[in-house]
Amino acid sequence: MKIGVFDSGLGGLTILKALLKELPQYNYVYLGDNARVPYGNRSPETIYEFTKQAVEFLFKKNCKIIILACNTATSTSLKKIQQEYLPKHYPDRRVLGVIKPVVEELESQIINNKTQKIGIIGTKATVNSGAFVREIDKTLPNSSVYQQACPLLVPFIEDGLKNNKVLKLILKEYLDGLLKEKIKALVLACTHYEVIEKEIQKTIGREIKIISEGKIIAKKLEEYLQNHQEIEKKLEKHKKVEYYVTDLNPDYEKIIKIFLGKSLRKAEIFYTTLV
Ligand code: DGL
Repeated sequence: MKIGVFDSGLGGLTILKALLKELPQYNYVYLGDNARVPYGNRSPETIYEFTKQAVEFLFKKNCKIIILACNTATSTSLKKIQQEYLPKHYPDRRVLGVIKPVVEELESQIINNKTQKIGIIGTKATVNSGAFVREIDKTLPNSSVYQQACPLLVPFIEDGLKNNKVLKLILKEYLDGLLKEKIKALVLACTHYEVIEKEIQKTIGREIKIISEGKIIAKKLEEYLQNHQEIEKKLEKHKKVEYYVTDLNPDYEKIIKIFLGKSLRKAEIFYTTLV
C-alpha cells in the first residue's frame, strides 16, 4: 500500500518534495485538484465535499494513509473526515493533516511554555475556520495567536512572480498588522508560501522565526510511522511516485516546477476527474 498526498492544487508538491527528501523509501500517490484550486475562498461545506472526493480517490489507489497537505482542507475538513467518514467507510485507513504537526513543532520551540505571540498566515478559509487558533490554545495556552488571510498570494506565486514589486507591497500590507502585534514566530499555513519564504523573511525581519511546513510534516510522519508499525509494515518501499492532476491547463507543467523544484515528464503525470 502507499502514502497519499492531497492538495487543492499543486502547492502541496512542496510537502511531497520534503517527504521525498526525508522518507524516499516509500511509494507515494500525489493528487492535486488543480481544476478547482483555490479552495481558500470557498465555503467549508464545498471544501469538505471536494476533500472527501479526493480522499476516496486516493483510497481507491490503494493508499493506507493520506496526508492532507492542504491547510485549507485540513482546517475545514480533517476532523469530520476522521470522526465521521473514516469510521463508516475506511476504518482501517488513516488521514492526517498539517496543523497538529506544526503546533507540536511550535510547542517544542517554545521552551518553558513562556508567553509567545504567534502569527498565522493562510487562506481565508483556513483563517476563518479558527483551526490553528484552537489547536494552539489547547497546546500552548499562554500564547496569543494573530491571524491574517492572504488571498492574493496564491495567484502571485502560481504565476512565478517572486521578486516582484507588487508582491513586496502586498506582503507589507498583509504582514504590517502582525508586526505591530510584535509576533515572535510566523507560521506559513499554506502550501504555497514556502516558495516565497525569503521574501516573507525580508518583510518581517530576521528576528521573527518562520515556521514552514514541509520539513515538519516529513519529520512528524516519520515519527508517526515509527509509532504505528502496523501501518508502516503495510507500506510498499520501491521509491515510486504517481502524480495525478484534475486539469491539464497550459500552465500546469510550469506550476509543478515551481513547487516540486524540478520538471516532470508528461508521461509521469496522469489526468483524472474526481466527480
Ligand atoms: N493548498 C491551499 C492551502 O494550503 C492553498 C491554495 C488554495 O486556496 O486552495 O491552504
